[in-house]
Amino acid sequence: MTGYELSVVEETDIGAMARIHALSFDDVWTGAMIRRILTMPGAFGIVARHGRQWSVAGFALLRQAADQCEILSLAVSPELRGDGVGGFLFDGAMEQAANAGATRLFLEVAEDNDVARRLYESRGLLPGRRRPDYYRRKDGTTASAVTMSCRLEAQDVRAPR
Ligand SMILES: CC(C)(COP(=O)(O)OP(=O)(O)OC[C@H]1O[C@@H](n2cnc3c(N)ncnc32)[C@H](O)[C@@H]1OP(=O)(O)O)[C@@H](O)C(=O)NCCC(=O)NCCS
Repeated sequence: MTGYELSVVEETDIGAMARIHALSFDDVWTGAMIRRILTMPGAFGIVARHGRQWSVAGFALLRQAADQCEILSLAVSPELRGDGVGGFLFDGAMEQAANAGATRLFLEVAEDNDVARRLYESRGLLPGRRRPDYYRRKDGTTASAVTMSCRLEAQDVRAPR
């Protein structure tokens, strides 16, 4: 994707990731929480950087266990959405997971998150189990979660640096 590059998360990215997370979700993940997630067995993260300024435009956090890989979080800075960064990150996450030996990718998404669901559907993920009232919103309402998943094919692609 022109103007952006994917790379593995570095310590200096964590502050920007926490800021993007806070602007994207009702449940806030602090930098310390993101750092802790990244120390879990099988966890890894990738960031999309704007090529010129090297600032973090978005990130994906994943956790792999045996041949299953879960996307724990995916978010793009609000002012940069709708420009392909989320898809670029998602494709990079799929490639990373497949190259690391995962044969299935899954995630949970709020049932009413049409943008994210469209992104996942466009990449071949299919909806599965529904968890009623799984997310609690700041305004006190709840949203159901849907598990989405797909098979991964091993691909000979360049891993993010
Ligand atoms: C979901 C999210 C990561 C998508 O990132 P993005 O950079 O805006 O996505 P892209 O521009 O790469 O678009 C990818 C696909 O999403 C869908 N999409 C993007 N913006 C959309 C919009 N405004 N309306 C409808 N669909 C949209 C399209 O299907 C698009 O596919 P296309 O490229 O074939 O048109 C981003 O909206 C985000 O950070 N949202 C808040 C956090 C979140 O909900 N994360 C997912 C949690 S499971």
